Amino acid sequence: MNIQIPDHISAIKKYQPGKTIPQLQEEFGWAKVAILWNNENTLGYSSKSKEAVLKAYEQINYYPDPISIDLREKLAKKLGRPKDQIILGNGSESVLMLAIRALCSGDDEFLTSGGSFVIIYNWARINNVRCVSMPLTESYGFDLDAIKSRINRNTKIIYLANVNNPTGTMISKAELEDFMQNVPDHILVIVDEAYFEFSHSLHEDFPNSLEMDYDNLLTLRTFSKAYGIAGVRLGFAVGHEKVIESMSKTKLTFEPTALAQAAGLGALDDTDFLSKTIENNIEGLKYFTSEFSRIGVQFVPSFGNFAMTVWKDQNEVERVFNDLMKKGVLVRPLAGSLEHCIRISVGRPEENEHLVHSLENL
Ligand SMILES: Cc1ncc(COP(=O)(O)O)c(C=O)c1O
Repeated sequence: MNIQIPDHISAIKKYQPGKTIPQLQEEFGWAKVAILWNNENTLGYSSKSKEAVLKAYEQINYYPDPISIDLREKLAKKLGRPKDQIILGNGSESVLMLAIRALCSGDDEFLTSGGSFVIIYNWARINNVRCVSMPLTESYGFDLDAIKSRINRNTKIIYLANVNNPTGTMISKAELEDFMQNVPDHILVIVDEAYFEFSHSLHEDFPNSLEMDYDNLLTLRTFSKAYGIAGVRLGFAVGHEKVIESMSKTKLTFEPTALAQAAGLGALDDTDFLSKTIENNIEGLKYFTSEFSRIGVQFVPSFGNFAMTVWKDQNEVERVFNDLMKKGVLVRPLAGSLEHCIRISVGRPEENEHLVHSLENL
């Protein structure tokens, strides 16, 4: 093959897909299974979302609304921000990609922390943008001082995940305000609040970045977690009109799909499902906290819908992962500087119990 692949694409490691759940089920023959590896909503999804998707399905021979006007208007009302400050995409990962594509060129740098959401590093590299990562603090949080001290004239975007995935650590309201006041306003600060609905209910000092007034702040949110519609891909960003307009120029024309837009509209109508999800998470994290302490599993206090457990080393992680897999408990071993850790999502009560009993019997 004589086609030249650009260096910045060749340098990216190929995605290594694992086995699918049906394949694993066949291999291990589990009597019961707990799917706790992707921070999904294991309570399912809203019935209102399903109704809206089934209705939209009747129209799938037509292209979707390219500007998602109904959903943007509904979000605008809910969030108290003008619709021109909102853009929707195929998940918040796509919206992050739009921001990088729209804003970065030449020597611009993307500055963030190591030990964060794995996809962000690739999105920067795919766009040929230099990605600079500062180490996490000893308590596995974003080191905002280190990030500030690394700002240089090439820094174009700073990415903060609040809460951070996979560590579950949070940046407080005061810390975020202080950071915003000290970052030059020609740098876009992206605050990824994928777990906002959970975090907000877990800590009174959890900041809502949508209430902060900075032109250079872009908030990311998703429907994949608390709203339970990860499979249809829907996320959004809220920020200054000019940034949003530039991002919309780089968007796929018909992103997000008609089914995703419908699912989002239905999901926003179902406050009961959202409350149940949040309640299940509060109880699940309480259960993890007491049971992990009882059986001696070390973990980092979390403000998301998951907890990061800490083990001796990568060998122990592999052993625990394989043993849990045999018992039908799917968890996420981590990589890089966190290869001694395993992230475990909060599931339904019976899944959480299956996890704890399996850990106990390792
Ligand atoms: C911090 C963070 N941001 C974004 C996402 C991606 O969400 P989406 O499904 O909307 O692309 C995730 C998913 O795990 C995440 O943990």
